[in-house]
Amino acid sequence: MIPAVMPTYARADVAFEHGQGAYLFDTGGRRYLDFASGIAVTALGHAHPALVAALTEQAHKLWHTSNLFRIPGQERLAARLTAASFADTVFFTNSGVEAWECGVKMVRKHFHAKGQPDRYRIVTCSSAFHGRTLSAIAAAKQEKLVTGFGPQVDGFDQVAFGNLNELRAAITDRTAAICVEPLQGEGGIRPATVAFLQGLRATADEFGLLLFFDEIQSGIGRTGKLFFHEWAGVTPDVMCLAKGIGGGFPLGACLATEAAAIGMTAGTHGTTFGGNPLAMAVANAVLDQVLAPGFLDRVAAISGVLWERLGHLVEAFPEVFCERRGAGLMLGLKCGPPNGDIVTALRHENLLVVPAGENVIRLLPPLIIDETHVETALAALTTVATAKSAASTEGAAV
Ligand SMILES: Cc1ncc(COP(=O)(O)O)c(C=O)c1O
Repeated sequence: MIPAVMPTYARADVAFEHGQGAYLFDTGGRRYLDFASGIAVTALGHAHPALVAALTEQAHKLWHTSNLFRIPGQERLAARLTAASFADTVFFTNSGVEAWECGVKMVRKHFHAKGQPDRYRIVTCSSAFHGRTLSAIAAAKQEKLVTGFGPQVDGFDQVAFGNLNELRAAITDRTAAICVEPLQGEGGIRPATVAFLQGLRATADEFGLLLFFDEIQSGIGRTGKLFFHEWAGVTPDVMCLAKGIGGGFPLGACLATEAAAIGMTAGTHGTTFGGNPLAMAVANAVLDQVLAPGFLDRVAAISGVLWERLGHLVEAFPEVFCERRGAGLMLGLKCGPPNGDIVTALRHENLLVVPAGENVIRLLPPLIIDETHVETALAALTTVATAKSAASTEGAAV
């Protein structure tokens, strides 16, 4: 019999009852160090007092009015996001994929408004992940995403991530934009090089294309800058955000320059829930923390400590953890044994992590961790590495 909850996830048999900071407590009272953060969402940890206060204060005042009226929290958040980025304007959504889809629609509308409606194609990259709508899976083209969901939405041409020559060769007079995750998450924590990101900007300018970055996972301080692309010194024309921006409250945002958004006039796009007063109250409280002086420096500093410790781990157990990758607190360990086994073994050691492509486990702790959390995580990783290493040696001896 099909479960009442549609079985599209192979869920771990654990349910959490409450969270505090970097820790989650399951219904049996067991404590876990949360280096999953609900897949890079709870950027300030669980039950952050400022977020709880912002949400409860707003809950007592007003939940929802629709976008038929002004929403002061939206105006404030949009002003802060544009002041802190390349963008001039923001559309708020409920989820990541809706923010990404807004970007795709904006790209098409941009060229339509310029009298070039045949320019609608978007170059995307291998191992990409942009969400689960029909257009997002058509953009990513991964077998596991598209199988059974055909016919695929037209308009996406895929090239190898990181290969600028292949990308340039894929551009035609129908190409409108290049869409890239500057730091791929689901694909296996694969950062684009600075040269690739700079090459994308130069290529977009050369061919008159829009450059569209998906920073849904890498944005809002996760890598020690507000946005990952800042490390490369380039800016996109369009960018989607979600996950960390709401600190656990469902929220996405599509940011754009005024020039990119020329087609997005009244009536062209909409959402009932996106950017409602509850979401805005929480997101403004998240930004208060992330933009506070010293916050991003602390993320960069603690991520340096974690990066170094992971280096020692890889040196000590190369057959279990063959490589460290990523940036800031969006880190990956490529595994020798199946990554699913490692995720389970770590959970038994009270450490939560997330699997990703290329047999990688993702470490996505909240941005508020300190050295004690790093030590606790490393203790669990070392215990599991020791056990798996012993098991592989025994296996080899048999
Ligand atoms: C880079 C990236 N884009 C888009 C999405 C889709 O976001 P959502 O699941 O909120 O629709 C995700 C989610 O994992 C993501 O990591």
